[in-house]
Amino acid sequence: MSVVAMAALAAASDIPAGAAYVDPLTYDVLGPNSTWYAARNTSTVGFNPTNNPSPFIQVFDPSFLSILGPSATIRSIASNPGFAFAHEAPIYDAGNNLLFFSSNDGGPLGYNGWYNNSIVSFINMTEVDEAIEAAGPGADVNVQITTLNLSDDVQMVNGGTGLYKGNLLFVTSGRALLPPSIVLVNPNPPYNTTVLLDNFLGRQFNSLNDVKILPGTDIIFFTDPTNGWGHDFRPAPMMPCQVYRFDPSTGQVRVVADQLDQPNGIAFTPDGKTAFVTDTAISTGFLGQTFPATIYAYDVDPITQAFTNRRVFAYSDSGIPDGIQLDTMGNVYSGCGEGTHVWNSRGTLIGKFFLNSTTAEMMFTKSGLVILDEESMYLVDVVAKGIELGTA
Ligand SMILES: *[C@@H]1O[C@H](CO)[C@@H](O)[C@H](O)[C@H]1NC(C)=O
Ligand SMILES: *[C@@H]1O[C@H](CO)[C@@H](O)[C@H](O)[C@H]1NC(C)=O
Ligand SMILES: *[C@@H]1O[C@H](CO)[C@@H](O)[C@H](O)[C@H]1NC(C)=O
Ligand SMILES: *[C@@H]1O[C@H](CO)[C@@H](O)[C@H](O)[C@H]1NC(C)=O
Ligand SMILES: *[C@@H]1O[C@H](CO)[C@@H](O)[C@H](O)[C@H]1NC(C)=O
Ligand SMILES: *[C@@H]1O[C@H](CO)[C@@H](O)[C@H](O)[C@H]1NC(C)=O
Ligand SMILES: *[C@@H]1O[C@H](CO)[C@@H](O)[C@H](O)[C@H]1NC(C)=O
Repeated sequence: MSVVAMAALAAASDIPAGAAYVDPLTYDVLGPNSTWYAARNTSTVGFNPTNNPSPFIQVFDPSFLSILGPSATIRSIASNPGFAFAHEAPIYDAGNNLLFFSSNDGGPLGYNGWYNNSIVSFINMTEVDEAIEAAGPGADVNVQITTLNLSDDVQMVNGGTGLYKGNLLFVTSGRALLPPSIVLVNPNPPYNTTVLLDNFLGRQFNSLNDVKILPGTDIIFFTDPTNGWGHDFRPAPMMPCQVYRFDPSTGQVRVVADQLDQPNGIAFTPDGKTAFVTDTAISTGFLGQTFPATIYAYDVDPITQAFTNRRVFAYSDSGIPDGIQLDTMGNVYSGCGEGTHVWNSRGTLIGKFFLNSTTAEMMFTKSGLVILDEESMYLVDVVAKGIELGTA
């Protein structure tokens, strides 16, 4: 037996209750009659060979245990079946212990489109902690969310980060002929807004999707796929799907990466030297399953901040890799087809938070990792901590 396999066996006996060990060596050969081949002729069916009931934690590598800690569990903290209230744009305001997020824009359970806007809400994590304390070990809770009354120039929020100079920083997809934009929102009442950018030298963006601040700077990087057109709430796209850099102090906008089909999630390592961009092309196009469901890594050029030296970081076996976040150990998290996948900094899949439904985004809070799962929000009491996303 290899050293790796022995380490893996030792780890298997240490995994938290409610987690399942999926040793890749056990599943490398499934044989000619495996029922998985028919079930997985589409990436929307997740791989759950241990057949554990969802939600649960899949461990592919013993190193995942250092993320989980001894007693990690997944529990639902808010749910509203039939309404995709918890989609993307998670921003954690640590001072107020609030997590902000947006509802699904364009999907059938978002109840919006060409004529209707989506919504932005927050969940009070102090109330979550109190509800969990009262409910007892492992029990689900259902904490009331609060929806913000935002000004009409905030249309179809899809991405967010911060705090940016004390504000929520959102990118909007725009709606109908209303332009996509970058907008600051006061995280306190009256939640007033300031639009920072809504065009590229007079041309509307397609439908802005996600955003991050380059660590140690005030510079904003964002992605522009064609989701709005794909979901019939924006006109046909008029520029390539690109990644942009925006310096609010000078007003200058420029492209830092192209040749992506559907650039979506974006993240940086804390040293600002590496950028990650997810490409969700698998959800579009002829023979769609052959298109990327891929996270690319780039070097961030120290002078120009253009993204260079693109390489594959990881390909997701399930759905699309959507929003993307890093922990302080360098592990990379992305919302995929059946839950949140976690790769180490070398791109090895080490574990999944398996929900058996599409998750688009997640965010670290003082209480643990919150996973946005459309009609539900889940909390995993991990020991891993998120990297700093805001500005000083
Ligand atoms: C696969 O199924 C065929 C047909 O039922 C059977 O003859 C064969 O032995 C099976 N192969 C294995 C490896 O189980
Ligand atoms: C996948 O397999 C299932 C079951 O055999 C079948 O119903 C479905 O049409 C297949 N889908 C594709 C895309 O081939
Ligand atoms: C996912 O949920 C569906 C029902 O919605 C169920 O049929 C299926 O077995 C589940 N799959 C896994 C891998 O848990
Ligand atoms: C838009 O909102 C109106 C009024 O609330 C509602 O009747 C309509 O069904 C909504 N449209 C969509 C696409 O959800
Ligand atoms: C969050 O909940 C705590 C505990 O109930 C409360 O003290 C605090 O005022 C709440 N914050 C907001 C913004 O509602
Ligand atoms: C939004 O406005 C409604 C109606 O005026 C009000 O009931 C609600 O409390 C407001 N929400 C917030 C977060 O201020
Ligand atoms: C909200 O209004 C206050 C008071 O006018 C102002 O200082 C602040 O900059 C505004 N914030 C945003 C994000 O517009």
